[in-house]
Amino acid sequence: MSEPRKILVTSALPYANGSIHLGHMVEYIQTDMWVRFQKHRGNQCTYVCADDAHGSAIMLRAEKEGITPEQLIANVQVEHSTDFADFLVEFDNFHSTHSDENRELSSQIYLKLRDAGHISQRSVTQYFDPDKQMFLADRFIKGTCPKCAAEDQYGDNCEKCGATYAPTELKNPKSAISGATPVLRDSQHFFFKLPDFQAMLQQWTRSGTLQDAVANKLAEWLDSGLQEWDISRDAPYFGFEIPGEPGKYFYVWLDAPIGYMASFKNLCARRPDLDFDAYWAKDSTAELYHFIGKDIINFHALFWPAMLEGAGYRKPTAVNVHGYLTVNGQKMSKSRGTFVKARTYLDHLSPEYLRYYYASKLGRGVDDMDLNLDDFVQKVNSDLVGKVVNIASRCAGFIHKGNAGVLVAENAAPELTDAFLAAAPSIGEAYENRDFARAMREIMALADRANAFIADKAPWALAKQEGKQDEVQAVCALGVNLFRQLVIFLKPVLPQLAADAEAFLNVAPLTWADHATLLANHQLNPFQALMSRIDPVRVQAMVDASKEDLEAAQASNAPAGNGELVKEPLAAQIEFDTFAAVDLRVALIVKAEHVEGADKLLRLTLDIGDEQRNVFSGIKSAYPNPAELEGRLTMMIANLKPRKMRFGMSEGMVMAAGPGGEEIYLLSPDSGAKPGQRIK
Ligand code: 2FM
Ligand code: ZN
Repeated sequence: MSEPRKILVTSALPYANGSIHLGHMVEYIQTDMWVRFQKHRGNQCTYVCADDAHGSAIMLRAEKEGITPEQLIANVQVEHSTDFADFLVEFDNFHSTHSDENRELSSQIYLKLRDAGHISQRSVTQYFDPDKQMFLADRFIKGTCPKCAAEDQYGDNCEKCGATYAPTELKNPKSAISGATPVLRDSQHFFFKLPDFQAMLQQWTRSGTLQDAVANKLAEWLDSGLQEWDISRDAPYFGFEIPGEPGKYFYVWLDAPIGYMASFKNLCARRPDLDFDAYWAKDSTAELYHFIGKDIINFHALFWPAMLEGAGYRKPTAVNVHGYLTVNGQKMSKSRGTFVKARTYLDHLSPEYLRYYYASKLGRGVDDMDLNLDDFVQKVNSDLVGKVVNIASRCAGFIHKGNAGVLVAENAAPELTDAFLAAAPSIGEAYENRDFARAMREIMALADRANAFIADKAPWALAKQEGKQDEVQAVCALGVNLFRQLVIFLKPVLPQLAADAEAFLNVAPLTWADHATLLANHQLNPFQALMSRIDPVRVQAMVDASKEDLEAAQASNAPAGNGELVKEPLAAQIEFDTFAAVDLRVALIVKAEHVEGADKLLRLTLDIGDEQRNVFSGIKSAYPNPAELEGRLTMMIANLKPRKMRFGMSEGMVMAAGPGGEEIYLLSPDSGAKPGQRIK
């Protein structure tokens, strides 16, 4: 038996200002399955992650919500951890980049790089928001495209004509944060001298650390010469101050990957079996793998190995890159209801359905992966319920009825158990190479053989014949054993199914090595249904709920709460005539009621003098008892074109304020206002 491998694995650290969605879950499920496979094989594998808590986006979002960044990231960490746990993604540690360990390691790495001559500094001229007193990243500047004159374009590229430019080329630039006209200002910045590592990176990126497609992409950058990397940001910034440089902060992407080390260090403090240096020292023999999406390759395969090398640490064994998720063949879309948050999925469907579906589609490459919702239902129902679980449910009854739940020792088809045994190395190799799709195909081919064997022997027919009881028991005992083998092979993907199967089989937690043995003369526990079919109605309900998130956001004028950066700069100035065209009225809430099937919306019946209006508003979480609104005055836009929503026509919009979620409150005029009065 060879020594267990020491393996440290990470997934990209999710930003602490947004919810996890099914696109993110591709990576966490992929990584978790690989980690579970390694543990199943007896390797010492450790999986760490953390929230990526720094940067201006998080600072601004907290400000908008009226809380501190520390409060925001604490709230999000709870949400993220729960989502991951409920998807059966089992981290050994889920930490935060805003931690003592990360502060220490980031400072130490920076100082090592500086002392080795890998840091330079120079003055940079950038747009500065005079109202907010802060420098503006490109995405916080909006203006008119210098090429096609499209308005309201971001500071680095035009969504209309695709042009890329410097923010200083934008016409009529405005701060997307305050609406102020930015001014140019100089400031001293710190740079990491990436070109010092050109030769090392040329070699490292071609040494089996990366998929070919990734190495080829990087070669384009490497061949055209590397640039120094700006690693500092000026205050105000939510992050770590650079040692010895007051008012200068590490750019979020400097300390984010160091967060991998910090999370591991935090874990080492409570796990005496783990030694930080054994995993990170230059001469470490442990393996280190990062799983990431293809949008962040340069940070992980150029900057990060260079930082590690420059600071005297080991480099990653490999960086494993995956593609993006599409749903029904298209980019995830809020209006189509295919931008599904992890929590919305979990509200309607079991996590193992998605884990299996992703496994069945994930190969070693960087291609995008499609979640086709019809195929999802069909594949899960046919493979997991129809093939795998079905074997156990077909056989268990005969064993309980005919032999008091005891598996006989006779092997009814040694050629079949031999075939299962012979398939194991190839399935193991597919898992090891992250070719989950191949592993699933090979496992399902075995399931087909097991089902064909049972169908051929037809124990239900044998059971009715005289003198065939021993054969019934032998066939069904083998069926249960083959089911057990399949569960062993599937355990990294379906840990809950495996736990339930272990309870039925009356065995200790199964390991990969157990596939080489069979149960004989063994008492089973009563059989309980192990997995039910997906009802397509549940999938539709999930899509509808995702649309509803959007409708609620639109109906309340609030962000969808998907955690995207909320940028609400002052809108462009309007002419008086445009203002005068808005018919804003005092409205009496005659009726306020729940809408069946809607989690976020209330239906309001509003009296505006001589007519009544039906308006849907996404304020349910602020008013769980809607009756309390009845009799109250509010304000509505009365001449908004009626909009058809899923639950009916919405004939106007009420005024509400708040950052979203539970904190959206209706605005009221002072008492004395009369329903129907026009607000001027
Ligand atoms: O792209 C992102 O979502 C980043 N938060 C990933 C960081 S990964 C690591 F480097 F920290
Ligand atoms: Zn343009």
